[in-house]
Amino acid sequence: MAYTRKNVTTLTASERRRFVNALLEVKRRGEYDAFVRTHVDYYTSDGEKGLRAAHMCPSFLPWHRRFLLDLENALRRVDSSVTLPYWDWTRDRSITAAPWTADLLGGNGRRSDRQVTTGPFAYGTGHWTLKVNVTDGKALTRDLGRAANPIQLPTRSELQSALDDPVYDASPWDSTATRGFRNKLEGWGTGSGSVSWRNHNRVHRWVGGDMLGGASVNDPVFWLHHAFLDYQWYRWQRAHTSHRYLPANPPGAGDKQQGRIVARLQKLPPWNVTPESLEDVSRIYTYA
Ligand code: CU
Ligand code: CU
Repeated sequence: MAYTRKNVTTLTASERRRFVNALLEVKRRGEYDAFVRTHVDYYTSDGEKGLRAAHMCPSFLPWHRRFLLDLENALRRVDSSVTLPYWDWTRDRSITAAPWTADLLGGNGRRSDRQVTTGPFAYGTGHWTLKVNVTDGKALTRDLGRAANPIQLPTRSELQSALDDPVYDASPWDSTATRGFRNKLEGWGTGSGSVSWRNHNRVHRWVGGDMLGGASVNDPVFWLHHAFLDYQWYRWQRAHTSHRYLPANPPGAGDKQQGRIVARLQKLPPWNVTPESLEDVSRIYTYA
């Protein structure tokens, strides 16, 4: 039986407690920091050499889909009733309401150093010390809305404009692709500074603190954000049933992207799976 991923605002008090407790237990077991390490290791940009499996590439969506499933399985080994909730940032835009409440992820960082001091993931609890990071910070930090230089969460119409593109991804298959659902959702736009961050990227910028870099997994909102993005892929597939993951075939000789992106039937590292095998997960989970 497929399980259901729910909107975080609809979780009951007991569902919230079980989700938080499962995260804390996965962290206590040392498994959580391995997820942070994997994400740091796969934070390759298109300015660097080598294969891009996770970001600035077609497999952005299947890579994170599998990454979320691995974390969700770790949570479900602790408590089989838990599923990953999602945060709909087109609707839930307050910095004091869910998911930023003391019974979920805790609130904004304090003014002086952006350290999160409320909720289950505050450094002071002793249960959420950052062990894998791209800085030497040990405490979770946030700067919701970037008060000193405010940015807004993406709007519903901005998300819809990504969903309306029937083509999954397009050449040059990187952060400069101007056509295709994948980059419109991942959100590498044109222009400079805040106008260039769309959808997925804009939300990372809006949360700020640890969500800004390769170690963004240190903030548990990472999973709620990416669950919502995964839900958008699921919605896109249902809106454009004759379209699929692209590219279907690896780029040919002489193509700059040869060996740098993962085609539909190629293996997606660090797993032994193809993007094709991750296109339909309806037997594992659905969204409500
Ligand atoms: Cu990522
Ligand atoms: Cu992300």
